[in-house]
Amino acid sequence: MKIAFIIGTRPEIIKMSPLIDEVDKRGIDYILIHTGQHYDYEMSQQFFLDLELSQPHYNIGVGSDSHGKQTAVMMEGIEKVLLREKPDIVLVQGDTNAVLAGALVAAKLHIAVGHVEAGLRSYDKTMPEEINRMVADVCTNLFFVPTEETAINLLFEGISPEDIFITGNTVVDACYRNLKIASKTSQIMSQLKIDGDILSLTLHRAENVDDPERLENIVEALLKIVGLTIVFPAHPRTVKTLKEFGLYSKLEKAPHIMMIKPVGYLDFLILQSNSKLMITDSGGIQEEAITLNIPCLTLRYNTERPETVEAGGNILVGSDSEKITDTVSTILADQGLYQRMKEATNPYGDGTTSQQILDAIQNAHDQGKLEIKPPKYIAGKRANKLLVMDEKITVSQFQEKNPNHLVNIVFNGNDPEFPKPNLLLKGKTILVTQLNDF
Ligand code: UD1
Ligand code: UDP
Repeated sequence: MKIAFIIGTRPEIIKMSPLIDEVDKRGIDYILIHTGQHYDYEMSQQFFLDLELSQPHYNIGVGSDSHGKQTAVMMEGIEKVLLREKPDIVLVQGDTNAVLAGALVAAKLHIAVGHVEAGLRSYDKTMPEEINRMVADVCTNLFFVPTEETAINLLFEGISPEDIFITGNTVVDACYRNLKIASKTSQIMSQLKIDGDILSLTLHRAENVDDPERLENIVEALLKIVGLTIVFPAHPRTVKTLKEFGLYSKLEKAPHIMMIKPVGYLDFLILQSNSKLMITDSGGIQEEAITLNIPCLTLRYNTERPETVEAGGNILVGSDSEKITDTVSTILADQGLYQRMKEATNPYGDGTTSQQILDAIQNAHDQGKLEIKPPKYIAGKRANKLLVMDEKITVSQFQEKNPNHLVNIVFNGNDPEFPKPNLLLKGKTILVTQLNDF
């Protein structure tokens, strides 16, 4: 079996790294394709060194451009590599343009697509990431989702539960694996020489940093935060627009704000672990904060990571200046609230996600499921029905008893549940698809 990994940006390198390690450990053949979307040393190469990854076999070198041009160049480059390398499966991760390009090209070449972190939805199609995730999931064959809630998003889009694997998120594997190493090697805290509490901030989401009004509101809030030092490793996109909108010097002059270049992963783990609070609009940092037990404020009005909010570790504050400062003050003044946020249960698994994903890929390969063929059953011969169950029977027993029936969604009262094989169906309502032969 041969796996092609597609990566392009900082979070993809980090979140794919535990999978690459696991593939190495199992002696599986693989190629690593870097689109080159992130190219600065501190946005790309630094992570290969920190995570001890071997250099990519291919770098498409796309660089920065408009969405259309960037995606098109990536697609052209990825297609050439896939035609030459003929992998059994292409793995994409998350929601960047590389995910869209990689999944689309592979699907058209009839190469199986595995989407790591599939199924997340913000339900906001103005976000480039939402389009990328949704299009990628149309092209995906194996869906590796972090939580049951995410799996249910996919069930409601008509994805078969047989293709969905609830695995947790590789971000936890990466955190657990690297935190110990980081605590021995990172010098970041002594280099920063900060007395007192710190708050770490990251900010790069297009809807915040490309919008002068939203960016100004966020900057105004940061200037008003008192009582701790804000450490801000600034993404290059943000540095560019802060300068363009005349806001950069305001942050630079503020004595309680320390703007620095983006730091490496090991340093960032230590910075987060030593922070009283995180403020971010990052996807990955919402997940890392709850993994590291650091309360998080998210500078967005929605999140495709609702589990973090429901668990109590993350609060959405948008880009409203007053809401940001008020929430920081409230959390810092209320020890009980602060402690509850710190103790929020991590919904993203126990650090074994990469093993679970590779087990699922290996199984699919062994069962011939990575060969993409026309389906046996086609539209028109599928009947969907709702059944109220009074029999004491599990999902797998129901499917054994009723050949060609697939339990898609289970309703326990009003609540949808993922149809895990051992789930008891008595007293529940099930949405079933019946597959008929012509
Ligand atoms: C991309 C992803 C976003 C992800 C983020 C992770 C898309 C659509 N966006 O956003 O989902 O959260 O990566 O960080 O795929 N730049 C540099 N050096 C670099 C890279 C970028 O200076 O190495 C600057 C360029 O001015 C570029 C801008 O940052 O125009 C934006 O970069 P781009 O790759 O388009 O998007 P990100 O904001 O990084
Ligand atoms: N990160 C890092 N150095 C930094 C800022 C972030 O190593 O200076 C890491 C962070 O630990 C997380 C990832 O980058 O794993 C998040 O990437 P980003 O916020 O750029 O993208 P997103 O997750 O929003 O797609």
